[in-house]
Amino acid sequence: MYDFTANTDQPKGDLYHDLREAAVALTAGEPDTIANMANVAALIWQFLPNLNWAGFYRMVAGELVLGPFIGKPACIRIPLGRGVCGTAAATGETQLVADVHAFPGHIACDAVSASELVVPIMCAGRVVAVIDLDSPVVARFDADDAAGIEALALAIGGCICHAED
Ligand code: SME
Repeated sequence: MYDFTANTDQPKGDLYHDLREAAVALTAGEPDTIANMANVAALIWQFLPNLNWAGFYRMVAGELVLGPFIGKPACIRIPLGRGVCGTAAATGETQLVADVHAFPGHIACDAVSASELVVPIMCAGRVVAVIDLDSPVVARFDADDAAGIEALALAIGGCICHAED
């Protein structure tokens, strides 16, 4: 049994530190990228409050394809440059969107989503996947969340580096 405790009362930096440590511990030595993404999606859901969707899109043959996630069923394929996820994948840059309805081309998978954070996972200079977080709260994510998820992406990048294989 895995029993990681999320102390959501602590400072955000410490919470992300604990999330990162749990993710590294869970994925260490496991080569299966889908299993690793599934466990990390579950950890994100457990550690971060006020989410309605948390998961991965994988780069497959030049487009994003839905990966493991927690939340409502979502769109399966996203072309590069489309929506928040496609923009993150095309630019290789984190997308921090306070109000998804103000983001041109936002793809609505769940009508309750109000804000979104998408962080690319890089491997050898290429985007191999993105982490996508949605919240029903406007401006749920700030620069600390972006930094926390970017550090998570860096920490687990190695375990999903062969995501496009
Ligand atoms: N809103 C995303 C699509 C994925 S769902 O949020 C799960 C986007 O605009 O790319």
